[in-house]
Amino acid sequence: MMSWPEQVVRVQSLSESGMRAIPNQYIKPPTQRPVFKLASQFDRHPDIPVIDLHNLFGKDPILHLDTLRRISTACRDWGFFHAVNHGVSHELMRRARQVWRDFFSLPLQVKQEYANAPTTYEGYGSRLGVEKGAILDWSDYFFLHYLPVSSRNQSKCPEQPSCCREVVAEYSCEVVKLCRTLLKAMSTDLGLKEEYIENAFGGDDMEASLRVNFYPKCPQPELTLGLSSHSDPGGITILLPDRDVARLQVRKDGDWITVNPVPDSLIVMVGDQIQVMSNAIYTSAEHRVVVNSAKDGVSLAMFFNPKSDLVMKPAEELVSEERPALYDAMTFEHYRRHMRMKGPCGKARLESLKFNSP
Ligand code: OGA
Ligand code: NI
Repeated sequence: MMSWPEQVVRVQSLSESGMRAIPNQYIKPPTQRPVFKLASQFDRHPDIPVIDLHNLFGKDPILHLDTLRRISTACRDWGFFHAVNHGVSHELMRRARQVWRDFFSLPLQVKQEYANAPTTYEGYGSRLGVEKGAILDWSDYFFLHYLPVSSRNQSKCPEQPSCCREVVAEYSCEVVKLCRTLLKAMSTDLGLKEEYIENAFGGDDMEASLRVNFYPKCPQPELTLGLSSHSDPGGITILLPDRDVARLQVRKDGDWITVNPVPDSLIVMVGDQIQVMSNAIYTSAEHRVVVNSAKDGVSLAMFFNPKSDLVMKPAEELVSEERPALYDAMTFEHYRRHMRMKGPCGKARLESLKFNSP
């Protein structure tokens, strides 16, 4: 069985040890370090799309179309948006965050029972990628498979806090519904059949997994990142961000823009497979997470991915003589292997696959 190349160190333990200087293995090269702006410059970026999804569930065709247009612009220009009125209960969102906060507050030896390995990544982890000597991110996480049902393993889900399994099940179920609605909206906007993307992802065999990220306090946030720059390799991600600290940054036209929290929103991100399938009409969001010296934080990322052995390629309807296929066909499993071995690398992987247009 594949294992980690070095002894796993829990970032939370480093943080709680009270050290003033972070270990070298977490210090990013100067070009990757975050730039912290003055508090006054942290106002919400005026263009970050905030989309009310209410009318996506409703019957009014004009309002429905208007919502589709907004989703369309966001997915083409940004690769992500804040969703409000998304149908997931706010109270459930709060409970989901709290139950994972409580999990990460448990003693280390309880959490260690769930220690993960790079074969499936399921469980309690502290690194992405298996390269010895890699520069690591300032975070721990918990990773769980949710769909297809056959991949779900109840014993991998924490027994403590006592309501954890129940809350995970309830939260995931609601987020899956939202995901299906969004995939339909995206398919329709791209001029494909409503079920196109979901079917291309394997229909009932579509994969879903949950990664709960824990970002411990960091004594030197200017030297490291909670999660290095990457785009999510799969289909779409529905992210429940940390509630009161702006940590997420998205790259737009070369600049890193801080995404301030919008109350009760969920963040929808386009992943690489939708960029591929849309033949780059949609763009996947390049994003990263900065850490904070005063507050730790928890976020829940639910990933919706193609069944791993399905071949992904641009939809034929979106390929023409004027717009030839930009990407070669490849199984999702093969595509994802890069991230699982090397860890986050911006959008380099996807860019490297692009054919050079003549
Ligand atoms: C991720 C991710 C962002 C966050 O888990 O892929 O980008 O805010 N998370 O935790
Ligand atoms: Ni991500």
